[in-house]
Amino acid sequence: MPEFSAKTMNKFKSVVAKYPEKGAALLPTLWLAQQEFSAITPEVEEYVAGLVGVSLVRVREVRTFYTMYTPKPLGRYHLQLCTNISCSLLGAEELLEHLKKKLRINTGETTPDGEFTLSNVECLGHCGTGPAMQINDDFHENLTKESLDKILDLLK
Ligand code: FES
Repeated sequence: MPEFSAKTMNKFKSVVAKYPEKGAALLPTLWLAQQEFSAITPEVEEYVAGLVGVSLVRVREVRTFYTMYTPKPLGRYHLQLCTNISCSLLGAEELLEHLKKKLRINTGETTPDGEFTLSNVECLGHCGTGPAMQINDDFHENLTKESLDKILDLLK
């Protein structure tokens, strides 16, 4: 069974203290788990359920709803390209195909060197400046094939 490191357990305790009941801290606890274990595996789901005192089903529901929680470890860079309506109208589908070809992976996959994981996601809240993509904690807007190539070159 996985366990938080002492440092993460301290973070967990301070997160939980902000909520009236432990179960309400499920989302930030899952995020701590994602950072600590690189993935929310079934074992991690069980551990988190025990920590916050909610059912395993509840943890699974939340884990599968939000794209920031992943069942498999991600690459060093998680490329999340928005393919929702505004970004699609601005060319996101074409950019997704470009990324697949360039990285030689499909959505939901990680490059063999562990550098990039590619996902297509719903609206990132940058509809007016699409196509938009989130790479780890950073946002990139008004993307074109050329700007994507530059970003990938910089990350390599
Ligand atoms: S539709 Fe792409 S950011 Fe909203």
